[in-house]
Amino acid sequence: MVTGGAGFIGMNLVRELCAANSHVTVMDDFSAAPRTNLSGLPVDIVERSVMEESSFAKLPDIDHVFHLASPSSVILYGKEPQKCFSTTTISMINVLRYAKTNGVKKIVYPSSGSVYGRASPPQKETTIPRPTNLYAVAKLACEQMIEGTEDPPPTTMLRIFAGYGPGEAHKGQIASPVGLFLRSIASDEPPIIYGDGTQSRDFIYIGDVVKIMMRAAESPAVGIVNAGSGESHTFNQVVEMLNRRLGKKVTPRYINRPINYLERTHADTSLMTKTFGVTPLSLEEGVDKYCSSIELAT
Ligand SMILES: NC(=O)c1ccc[n+]([C@@H]2O[C@H](COP(=O)([O-])OP(=O)(O)OC[C@H]3O[C@@H](n4cnc5c(N)ncnc54)[C@H](O)[C@@H]3O)[C@@H](O)[C@H]2O)c1
Repeated sequence: MVTGGAGFIGMNLVRELCAANSHVTVMDDFSAAPRTNLSGLPVDIVERSVMEESSFAKLPDIDHVFHLASPSSVILYGKEPQKCFSTTTISMINVLRYAKTNGVKKIVYPSSGSVYGRASPPQKETTIPRPTNLYAVAKLACEQMIEGTEDPPPTTMLRIFAGYGPGEAHKGQIASPVGLFLRSIASDEPPIIYGDGTQSRDFIYIGDVVKIMMRAAESPAVGIVNAGSGESHTFNQVVEMLNRRLGKKVTPRYINRPINYLERTHADTSLMTKTFGVTPLSLEEGVDKYCSSIELAT
């Protein structure tokens, strides 16, 4: 079962699971992504909220749960903090209870690289988290709920860094910086950058996120594992790369950056590579694939 299966990570994951002949159930209330993201995929859809424990009452036999459904950005948390925090944490309680009662073999939970917050990069799983916003606090709370459950179901918690790639269009202004800049540059609009563009992020291509999640589901490994590319690129470098790839010369518009804004994220990916044997794409390779997918679609 994939909760939040219509979302950016969800739809990419569901597509690969179906291609691997898995029988997939999607639980999604379609509050943040359209049902059409699942068009043509042979899945069973449970249109319910993960907030309600009753949503989990009449499911078919489920071996693996990918629990993706939740508000996925700091911006959403800023607008509706109570709703976002409770959706994230209460749904985690519901999934844990369901998994324990029904003998689920594995839960894969997308935590976030943002739990590291102010901690100095490169960020390793043993680095003490220093979250700077409620989104990251909620993600960390979910990790701790899993670890603090007596006899928890086998769970891999993936601290995913900044995912980007095809399938994030429905996210609008909360899409990844790569997606936002791509959309602007492709239409000759200046991409908007908070600050001077020297802030850097560990960007991971969606295909790699999906690969890591699928390997995590089959792996006996439990606990926290980073999911990043192991590289950190500045926003200015991303704009440069996109301009080069698209044959454009669009310059960004720089505006004041918000407080609590992170300077640099950079995952130590040694545990990820050792545990799941995934070698992630470089940003240049990922950007090329992303641009090609958009060129093909137009
Ligand atoms: N995108 C990233 O780079 C990234 C990085 C780290 C962690 N994550 C986590 O991965 C998960 C998925 O992120 P995404 O980028 O695909 O987000 P998304 O917003 O595209 O998808 C979220 C999905 O969850 C559904 N949903 C939301 N609330 C729900 C509810 N109460 N009941 C049922 N369904 C509900 C939405 O309709 C949507 O389909 C989130 O938990 C997010 O925090 C994402």
